[in-house]
Amino acid sequence: MTVNNKAVGIIGVGSYLPEKIVTNADLEKVVETSDEWIFERTGIKERRVADGDTATSDIAAKAAEMALADAGITAEEIDLIIVATVTPDMSFPSVACLVQDRLKAKNAAAFDLSAACSGFTYGMVVASSFIKSGVYKKVLVIGAETLSKIIDWEDRNTCILFGDGAGAAVLGQVEDGYGILGVELGADGSGGDLLKVPAGGSRQPTSIETCNNKLHFIHMNGNEVFKFAVKVMGEAAVKALDDAGLDPESIDCLIPHQANIRIIQSAAKRLKVPMDKVVVNVDKYGNTSAASIPIALAETVKSGRVKKGDIVVLVGFGAGLTWASCVLKWCKGD
Ligand code: ACO
Repeated sequence: MTVNNKAVGIIGVGSYLPEKIVTNADLEKVVETSDEWIFERTGIKERRVADGDTATSDIAAKAAEMALADAGITAEEIDLIIVATVTPDMSFPSVACLVQDRLKAKNAAAFDLSAACSGFTYGMVVASSFIKSGVYKKVLVIGAETLSKIIDWEDRNTCILFGDGAGAAVLGQVEDGYGILGVELGADGSGGDLLKVPAGGSRQPTSIETCNNKLHFIHMNGNEVFKFAVKVMGEAAVKALDDAGLDPESIDCLIPHQANIRIIQSAAKRLKVPMDKVVVNVDKYGNTSAASIPIALAETVKSGRVKKGDIVVLVGFGAGLTWASCVLKWCKGD
């Protein structure tokens, strides 16, 4: 996968979570469920929910500002903004263009990327390719979602799972031997029906009927998605490690997509990585789709848990169906 020898890595990270917390106990008042069921089956205790006036670009911009500050660069130094999201403010303009305006990143090109929960990692690989090929020097990649806006709060199969949030990373050239060492991206479009928002696009344009039939909300076959996730998470990480010339034993920190603790545990088991090397925050935030990996990454970096030279593996799966993994040799710190 490596185009040339230019080393590309993450030079700054940031994250933002809306303040409002919705606990499992709160959901017990809305649908027939229990804290016990939700925690046992998913590992989720609570999630964040954006208020009515807040859109995805608002929280994306906040995470981006933190990533720019962490990288020690100005918005004008950014050449490209990629936003991974399935909950854009509107069909168009893109969230990336709205963020570009908010940040006053006037030298940046901007576009959104649609790969659901795999979107941030897809975005990192796209960003890295632009930098390796010499087209751009610094790229801002954001994963941001307000999934609370496309959840049917009467459907206990889905409303307990998701949350809102944003995470961001600035990618640029780094010291030789550091940064992105290996990647794996994949898709299986035959599984598209397992997880989707059926209406509001060109297949089923918005109508009174689509609204009445709740076709603008997330529809999911949870059991099938679960089976796919368990299979693909470990496989994707192994392929990215192969691409890097490494084996799973070299992992210092595994940052999986935060969908369900049982999926995370099975990926860790498949890779034989002890859980103390696995980042878990699904209990606090639920599944924030494209935002989950960059939020977990930013919080892990800020906590000091990742040291320069550590092998960090990002791995996720999502609607599409898609999967993505990226192996990094952490380049910041002493
Ligand atoms: N509270 C109480 N009972 C519930 C709830 C709930 N919130 N939800 C479902 N149940 C019931 C079901 O109706 C079922 O009852 P029944 O046996 O009488 O029919 C029973 O609990 C078991 O249901 P299952 O669906 O078999 O439960 P399972 O253990 O598989 O857990 C879950 C369901 C949590 C959805 C799991 O399948 C899962 O996590 N799947 C992956 C989902 C996922 O990760 N989606 C996001 C993908 S990423 C992206 O791109 C957005």
